[in-house]
Amino acid sequence: MKTNYSWSAPSNIAFVKYWGKKGVQEPLNSNLSGTLDKCRTNTSIIFEKGEFDVTLFFHGERNETFEKKVRAKLAKTISNEFPSLLNYKLTIHSENTFPHSCGIASSASFYASLSLCLTEFEFELSSRSIYGESDCFSTDFLERASFYARLGSGSACRSLFPGVATWEFESPAYAKCLEIKNDNLKEIDDFICLVDSSEKSVSSTLGHSMMNDHPYKDLRINQANQNFSACVTALQYGDWNSFIQVVEEEANSLHALMMTSRPAFILLKPNTLAFIESFQRWREEHQVNACYTIDAGPNLHFLVDRKQSELFKSFIEKNTHLLENGQYIHDQIGGVIKKIEHI
Ligand code: PMV
Repeated sequence: MKTNYSWSAPSNIAFVKYWGKKGVQEPLNSNLSGTLDKCRTNTSIIFEKGEFDVTLFFHGERNETFEKKVRAKLAKTISNEFPSLLNYKLTIHSENTFPHSCGIASSASFYASLSLCLTEFEFELSSRSIYGESDCFSTDFLERASFYARLGSGSACRSLFPGVATWEFESPAYAKCLEIKNDNLKEIDDFICLVDSSEKSVSSTLGHSMMNDHPYKDLRINQANQNFSACVTALQYGDWNSFIQVVEEEANSLHALMMTSRPAFILLKPNTLAFIESFQRWREEHQVNACYTIDAGPNLHFLVDRKQSELFKSFIEKNTHLLENGQYIHDQIGGVIKKIEHI
C-alpha cells in the first residue's frame, strides 16, 4: 500500500464573508468564494504505522509552532471522524506557491491540500476509489475532503471546488460547487494588492469568537444570508453591477463588525483606504467592471472582468507607491485541485 500522498490546492477569496461560527466549525451565515489558481499550497504526507505523531516541514524547514497547531487539529477534531489516523506517524511537507509572509492567508489552501492527502489515504485504507465517472474525482471524495478541510479551517472547505464554492449554514458539513450557467461573470481576475505584510494584531480565530456576543450579530446573519442569495443571483445572471454592490458591502461590513466588536479592533491601514479611494475615482472615470474586497487583514483583492484586466493593470501600476514594495499578484478565479507526484 502507498504511504506517501501529495496534493496541490488553491486558496480562495470570499465574495460573501464567513464571520462567526458555532458548534464544531460551522458558519453563522452562508458564504461563498471564488477559488484562486496561482496562489496555492502543495502538501505531502508520509504515513508510517506507529504511535500517533506529527512532524511538519514548511518550505523544507521544521516549523514547530505550526506543527503543534496541526497536531492538535488532527488529534482532537479530525481523528474523531477518522479514528485509525491515530495508528500512524505523519510527516508533512508543505510549501506555498506565493511568497511567504506576503499577507495572503494560506490556511485555506494548506488545510485543503492536507485534507486531500488524508482523504486519499482514508479511501485507500477502505479500498475505495477516489475517482467517479470519466476519471473525475468522485463527489464522495470531494465532500469528504471538504469536510476535513472545514475542521482544519472553516474557509478551507471552499477551496476544493473550481470556480465558485458555497458553504451554507443549513448544510454546514462541507462546501459545494456552484454551477454558473451565464458566461458574463465567469472570467474574473483577482489582483491581490499587498498593503502590509506584518502579522495581524487579531487572529481570525479570535475575530470569529467576537461575533458570539456582538451587538449586531442577528443583523449581520440576516444581511449575510441576503447577500448570499443576491450574490448567487448576480453570478447566475451575469450581473456585474449587483455583484460589485454585494461584494463591496461584504468587505465593508466585515471590517465594520471588527470596528464595533467588544473589544473593537481595526485591521485596515491608511494605504488600504487610500488605494480604495483612488480606485473609486478611477472606476468612475473608466466604467470598468471591477470591485474590491478585503479579508481579515489590510490587503486588497480587486475582482476584475478579465476583458478589462490590462486596463486595470495600468491603474495598479500608477498606484504601486501605496503597496508594500510595490507588490501585487495577478491571479484568477477558476483554479482546481491537483494530485501531484511529490513536492
Ligand atoms: O477560515 P478562517 O477561520 O480563516 O476564516 C476566514 C474568514 C474570512 O477570510 C475573513 C472570510 C472568508 O469567508 O474567507
